[in-house]
Amino acid sequence: MLYDKKSPATIEAMFSSIANDYDRVNTITSFGFHKIWNRRLIKAVLKRVTPEVHLDLCCGTGSIGVALAYKIRKKITKLHLLDFSKPMLEHALHRGLEYGLKPSQLEIHFEDAQSIPLSSNSVDSATIAYGIRNVKNPLLVIQEVNRVLKKGGIFAILELTMPTNRVVAYMYKKFLIKVLPALASLVTRNPLAYHYLSRSIQEFIPLSHLQLLAESEGLKIVKKKCFFTGVCSLLMFEKL
Ligand SMILES: C[S@@+](CC[C@H](N)C(=O)[O-])C[C@H]1O[C@@H](n2cnc3c(N)ncnc32)[C@H](O)[C@@H]1O
Repeated sequence: MLYDKKSPATIEAMFSSIANDYDRVNTITSFGFHKIWNRRLIKAVLKRVTPEVHLDLCCGTGSIGVALAYKIRKKITKLHLLDFSKPMLEHALHRGLEYGLKPSQLEIHFEDAQSIPLSSNSVDSATIAYGIRNVKNPLLVIQEVNRVLKKGGIFAILELTMPTNRVVAYMYKKFLIKVLPALASLVTRNPLAYHYLSRSIQEFIPLSHLQLLAESEGLKIVKKKCFFTGVCSLLMFEKL
Protein backbone atom coordinates (compact mmCIF):
# COMPACT_ATOMS: atom_id res chain seq x y z
CA MET A 1 0.00 0.00 0.00
CA LEU A 2 1.23 3.50 -0.81
CA TYR A 3 1.05 5.66 2.31
CA ASP A 4 0.11 9.22 1.47
CA LYS A 5 -1.36 11.83 3.80
CA LYS A 6 -3.50 13.17 0.96
CA SER A 7 -5.36 9.91 1.50
CA PRO A 8 -5.88 9.80 5.31
CA ALA A 9 -7.28 6.25 5.18
CA THR A 10 -3.84 4.98 4.12
CA ILE A 11 -2.20 6.79 7.05
CA GLU A 12 -4.76 5.41 9.48
CA ALA A 13 -4.16 1.88 8.12
CA MET A 14 -0.41 2.34 8.44
CA PHE A 15 -0.54 3.50 12.08
CA SER A 16 -3.03 0.79 12.96
CA SER A 17 -0.68 -1.82 11.47
CA ILE A 18 2.21 -0.72 13.71
CA ALA A 19 0.24 0.07 16.89
CA ASN A 20 1.40 -3.06 18.74
CA ASP A 21 5.07 -2.42 17.99
CA TYR A 22 4.92 1.37 18.06
CA ASP A 23 6.48 2.14 21.45
CA ARG A 24 9.23 -0.46 21.12
CA VAL A 25 10.24 0.58 17.60
CA ASN A 26 10.11 4.23 18.61
CA THR A 27 12.60 3.63 21.41
CA ILE A 28 14.95 1.76 19.06
CA THR A 29 14.79 4.20 16.13
CA SER A 30 15.10 7.34 18.28
CA PHE A 31 17.74 5.71 20.51
CA GLY A 32 15.47 6.64 23.41
CA PHE A 33 15.76 10.39 22.75
CA HIS A 34 12.00 10.80 22.21
CA LYS A 35 11.46 10.06 25.91
CA ILE A 36 13.58 13.08 26.83
CA TRP A 37 11.75 15.30 24.29
CA ASN A 38 8.36 14.07 25.54
CA ARG A 39 9.31 14.93 29.12
CA ARG A 40 10.42 18.40 27.99
CA LEU A 41 7.07 18.93 26.28
CA ILE A 42 5.10 17.88 29.37
CA LYS A 43 7.27 20.01 31.65
CA ALA A 44 6.86 23.05 29.39
CA VAL A 45 3.06 22.73 29.37
CA LEU A 46 2.75 22.17 33.12
CA LYS A 47 5.00 25.13 33.80
CA ARG A 48 2.39 27.38 32.16
CA VAL A 49 -0.85 25.72 33.24
CA THR A 50 -2.25 23.01 35.51
CA PRO A 51 -5.11 21.88 33.30
CA GLU A 52 -8.39 20.55 34.59
CA VAL A 53 -9.15 19.54 31.02
CA HIS A 54 -6.38 18.46 28.67
CA LEU A 55 -6.63 17.30 25.06
CA ASP A 56 -3.95 15.09 23.50
CA LEU A 57 -4.38 14.99 19.73
CA CYS A 58 -2.93 12.18 17.60
CA CYS A 59 -2.40 10.55 20.98
CA GLY A 60 -1.11 7.23 19.63
CA THR A 61 -0.53 4.85 22.53
CA GLY A 62 -1.09 7.72 24.98
CA SER A 63 2.48 8.24 26.09
CA ILE A 64 2.19 12.04 26.21
CA GLY A 65 -1.38 12.59 27.40
CA VAL A 66 -1.31 9.90 30.06
CA ALA A 67 2.09 10.89 31.45
CA LEU A 68 0.96 14.52 31.62
CA ALA A 69 -2.33 13.65 33.33
CA TYR A 70 -0.58 11.31 35.76
CA LYS A 71 1.62 14.16 37.00
CA ILE A 72 -1.46 16.18 37.97
CA ARG A 73 -3.79 13.22 38.66
CA LYS A 74 -5.38 14.82 41.71
CA LYS A 75 -6.33 17.97 39.80
CA ILE A 76 -7.18 16.88 36.28
CA THR A 77 -10.84 16.10 35.73
CA LYS A 78 -10.69 15.08 32.08
CA LEU A 79 -8.01 13.83 29.72
CA HIS A 80 -9.31 13.71 26.16
CA LEU A 81 -7.32 11.28 24.03
CA LEU A 82 -7.99 11.65 20.30
CA ASP A 83 -6.72 9.53 17.42
CA PHE A 84 -8.14 8.10 14.20
CA SER A 85 -6.53 4.69 14.77
CA LYS A 86 -8.61 2.35 16.92
CA PRO A 87 -5.71 0.04 17.85
CA MET A 88 -3.68 3.08 18.99
CA LEU A 89 -6.61 4.32 21.10
CA GLU A 90 -7.01 0.89 22.72
CA HIS A 91 -3.37 1.06 23.84
CA ALA A 92 -3.88 4.64 25.07
CA LEU A 93 -6.91 3.70 27.16
CA HIS A 94 -5.11 0.70 28.58
CA ARG A 95 -2.12 2.89 29.47
CA GLY A 96 -4.34 5.44 31.22
CA LEU A 97 -5.98 2.78 33.38
CA GLU A 98 -2.64 1.11 34.06
CA TYR A 99 -1.28 4.43 35.36
CA GLY A 100 -4.18 4.50 37.81
CA LEU A 101 -6.20 7.29 36.22
CA LYS A 102 -9.90 6.91 37.00
CA PRO A 103 -12.17 5.85 34.12
CA SER A 104 -14.12 9.07 34.70
CA GLN A 105 -10.94 11.07 34.03
CA LEU A 106 -10.42 9.46 30.62
CA GLU A 107 -12.33 10.07 27.43
CA ILE A 108 -11.25 8.60 24.13
CA HIS A 109 -12.24 9.99 20.75
CA PHE A 110 -12.00 7.90 17.61
CA GLU A 111 -11.83 10.95 15.34
CA ASP A 112 -9.80 12.98 12.89
CA ALA A 113 -7.76 15.76 14.52
CA GLN A 114 -9.08 18.16 11.86
CA SER A 115 -12.52 17.98 13.43
CA ILE A 116 -12.44 17.92 17.23
CA PRO A 117 -15.70 16.73 18.84
CA LEU A 118 -15.51 19.13 21.81
CA SER A 119 -17.32 22.36 22.51
CA SER A 120 -15.68 25.74 22.05
CA ASN A 121 -13.67 27.22 24.97
CA SER A 122 -13.73 23.97 26.93
CA VAL A 123 -10.08 22.90 27.12
CA ASP A 124 -7.22 24.31 29.26
CA SER A 125 -4.38 22.82 27.26
CA ALA A 126 -3.75 20.72 24.19
CA THR A 127 -0.78 18.77 22.86
CA ILE A 128 0.07 17.12 19.57
CA ALA A 129 3.29 15.12 19.45
CA TYR A 130 4.68 13.71 16.20
CA GLY A 131 1.19 13.98 14.79
CA ILE A 132 0.68 17.22 12.89
CA ARG A 133 3.02 16.31 10.03
CA ASN A 134 0.77 13.33 9.24
CA VAL A 135 -2.39 15.39 8.96
CA LYS A 136 -3.68 16.37 5.52
CA ASN A 137 -4.34 19.99 6.49
CA PRO A 138 -2.41 21.21 9.60
CA LEU A 139 -4.21 24.57 9.47
CA LEU A 140 -7.52 22.85 10.22
CA VAL A 141 -6.01 21.28 13.34
CA ILE A 142 -4.72 24.66 14.49
CA GLN A 143 -8.12 26.27 13.89
CA GLU A 144 -9.89 23.51 15.76
CA VAL A 145 -7.51 23.70 18.72
CA ASN A 146 -7.93 27.47 18.78
CA ARG A 147 -11.70 26.97 18.91
CA VAL A 148 -11.75 24.43 21.76
CA LEU A 149 -9.09 26.16 23.91
CA LYS A 150 -10.20 28.49 26.68
CA LYS A 151 -8.75 31.99 26.73
CA GLY A 152 -5.24 31.73 28.18
CA GLY A 153 -5.12 28.06 27.17
CA ILE A 154 -1.89 26.47 25.96
CA PHE A 155 -1.25 24.54 22.75
CA ALA A 156 2.04 22.66 22.37
CA ILE A 157 3.30 21.02 19.20
CA LEU A 158 6.21 18.59 19.32
CA GLU A 159 7.40 17.45 15.91
CA LEU A 160 10.31 15.78 14.15
CA THR A 161 11.93 18.39 11.94
CA MET A 162 14.82 18.84 9.54
CA PRO A 163 17.86 20.58 11.10
CA THR A 164 18.56 24.01 9.62
CA ASN A 165 22.34 23.52 9.52
CA ARG A 166 23.05 22.19 6.02
CA VAL A 167 25.76 19.73 7.00
CA VAL A 168 23.70 18.28 9.84
CA ALA A 169 20.63 18.17 7.58
CA TYR A 170 22.61 16.24 4.96
CA MET A 171 23.73 13.64 7.51
CA TYR A 172 20.29 13.41 9.04
CA LYS A 173 18.76 12.86 5.60
CA LYS A 174 21.14 9.93 5.08
CA PHE A 175 20.02 8.56 8.46
CA LEU A 176 16.36 8.96 7.51
CA ILE A 177 16.73 7.32 4.10
CA LYS A 178 19.13 4.50 4.92
CA VAL A 179 19.37 3.82 8.64
CA LEU A 180 15.86 4.44 10.00
CA PRO A 181 13.99 2.05 7.65
CA ALA A 182 16.76 -0.56 8.00
CA LEU A 183 16.63 -0.38 11.80
CA ALA A 184 12.84 -0.52 11.77
CA SER A 185 12.81 -3.49 9.39
CA LEU A 186 14.64 -5.52 12.03
CA VAL A 187 11.93 -5.00 14.60
CA THR A 188 8.62 -4.29 12.84
CA ARG A 189 6.32 -6.32 10.66
CA ASN A 190 5.68 -3.29 8.44
CA PRO A 191 9.00 -1.71 7.37
CA LEU A 192 7.19 0.24 4.61
CA ALA A 193 5.60 2.33 7.37
CA TYR A 194 9.03 3.60 8.34
CA HIS A 195 9.81 4.58 4.75
CA TYR A 196 6.69 6.75 4.95
CA LEU A 197 7.72 8.19 8.33
CA SER A 198 11.16 9.03 6.97
CA ARG A 199 9.61 10.74 3.93
CA SER A 200 7.04 12.61 6.01
CA ILE A 201 9.77 14.24 8.12
CA GLN A 202 11.66 15.41 5.03
CA GLU A 203 8.56 16.71 3.26
CA PHE A 204 6.87 18.51 6.16
CA ILE A 205 6.63 22.31 6.10
CA PRO A 206 9.43 24.16 7.95
CA LEU A 207 8.90 25.00 11.59
CA SER A 208 8.78 28.74 10.84
CA HIS A 209 5.88 28.11 8.45
CA LEU A 210 4.00 26.10 11.08
CA GLN A 211 4.54 28.92 13.58
CA LEU A 212 3.20 31.45 11.05
CA LEU A 213 0.08 29.35 10.47
CA ALA A 214 -0.68 29.34 14.21
CA GLU A 215 0.10 33.04 14.59
CA SER A 216 -2.13 33.87 11.63
CA GLU A 217 -4.97 32.28 13.62
CA GLY A 218 -4.23 34.62 16.55
CA LEU A 219 -2.25 32.22 18.74
CA LYS A 220 0.73 33.79 20.52
CA ILE A 221 4.05 31.96 20.50
CA VAL A 222 5.31 31.55 24.09
CA LYS A 223 8.08 28.99 23.61
CA LYS A 224 10.20 27.71 20.76
CA LYS A 225 12.85 25.10 21.33
CA CYS A 226 14.91 22.88 19.06
CA PHE A 227 16.31 19.66 20.46
CA PHE A 228 19.41 17.79 19.36
CA THR A 229 20.52 20.05 16.47
CA GLY A 230 16.93 20.54 15.37
CA VAL A 231 15.80 16.99 14.66
CA CYS A 232 12.92 17.60 17.04
CA SER A 233 11.21 20.91 17.81
CA LEU A 234 8.74 22.24 20.28
CA LEU A 235 6.40 25.15 19.59
CA MET A 236 4.11 26.38 22.34
CA PHE A 237 1.29 28.90 21.94
CA GLU A 238 -1.19 30.72 24.14
CA LYS A 239 -4.72 31.60 23.14
CA LEU A 240 -5.13 35.31 23.78
C1 LIG B 1 3.74 9.18 15.12
S1 LIG B 1 2.30 8.79 16.01
C2 LIG B 1 2.49 9.73 17.48
C3 LIG B 1 1.72 9.18 18.65
C4 LIG B 1 1.91 9.88 19.98
N1 LIG B 1 1.50 11.26 19.95
C5 LIG B 1 3.31 9.74 20.52
O1 LIG B 1 3.88 10.74 20.93
O2 LIG B 1 3.84 8.63 20.53
C6 LIG B 1 1.05 9.67 15.13
C7 LIG B 1 -0.36 9.34 15.56
O3 LIG B 1 -1.22 10.29 14.94
C8 LIG B 1 -2.38 9.63 14.51
N2 LIG B 1 -2.94 10.44 13.41
C9 LIG B 1 -2.34 10.78 12.25
N3 LIG B 1 -3.14 11.58 11.52
C10 LIG B 1 -4.26 11.76 12.26
C11 LIG B 1 -5.45 12.51 12.06
N4 LIG B 1 -5.65 13.21 10.94
N5 LIG B 1 -6.39 12.50 13.03
C12 LIG B 1 -6.20 11.78 14.16
N6 LIG B 1 -5.11 11.04 14.41
C13 LIG B 1 -4.14 11.04 13.46
C14 LIG B 1 -1.92 8.24 14.11
O4 LIG B 1 -2.96 7.31 14.12
C15 LIG B 1 -0.85 7.97 15.17
O5 LIG B 1 -1.39 7.32 16.28
